[in-house]
Amino acid sequence: MTEFDTSRFAVIADIHGNVDALEAVLHDIADLGIESIVNLGDHLSGPMAPKATADLLMDREMKSIRGNHDRWLLETPREEMCSVDRVAIDELEPQHLEWLGALAPTLWISDEVFACHGTPTSDVTYWAEQVTPDGHIMTRAPSDIRAEAGGNNASLFLCGHSHLPRRLDLAHGCVLLNPGSVGCPAYVDDLPVRHVVETGTSAACYAVVEKKQVAWATSFRHVPYDPSRMIALAEAHDHAHWGIRLTTGRVA
Ligand SMILES: [Fe+2]
Repeated sequence: MTEFDTSRFAVIADIHGNVDALEAVLHDIADLGIESIVNLGDHLSGPMAPKATADLLMDREMKSIRGNHDRWLLETPREEMCSVDRVAIDELEPQHLEWLGALAPTLWISDEVFACHGTPTSDVTYWAEQVTPDGHIMTRAPSDIRAEAGGNNASLFLCGHSHLPRRLDLAHGCVLLNPGSVGCPAYVDDLPVRHVVETGTSAACYAVVEKKQVAWATSFRHVPYDPSRMIALAEAHDHAHWGIRLTTGRVA
């Protein structure tokens, strides 16, 4: 097992079964000479290639946690699942679910780095964003964002879930980082109310983190890839509307 490099690593999240985007990102990470990867969950749920994504992830050494969709795949009866979870559960085999079941909801990567999918206490809550009653996405108040850290004294908090790449500096030199989404650049969600998230790019997104003397340096990578095979798979799984999402990063 390669020792995890806590001074320089890649952060990926929200792959959502898009194995071609994942492969593009893994190649980009390798091209940068980075071997250590943190993966923040929502790995497989999507109308594209859940099984191939699981096989690739299980074959790669990385520090992974589970997201809300990963939990739902394990906990929810099929008839109550959302459509993207149903595509995944119909394709996955016992070893894939066993792998998902072994993932922790949160993880300390080092003494200084804490990883979660949504917030430290919830995998369905956006850490940095809030949804207004009329469905608009806004940045949360700084005090609310800081409060989510609770008593955790990390200097770098990693979160995913909103698919929106961003860095926010919290109090005392502490950083909150969302690397964006590898495989799902736009979506519609009904919780807490119906809202649309659009990154506006088809590129697969992730982040690189480097420990500098004064603080954490972070950079976002937008990796272009050809989504046509994933779009064809989405169409074959009765999710043709994902075509525009994967092509433009918008829902319409
Ligand atoms: Fe999520």
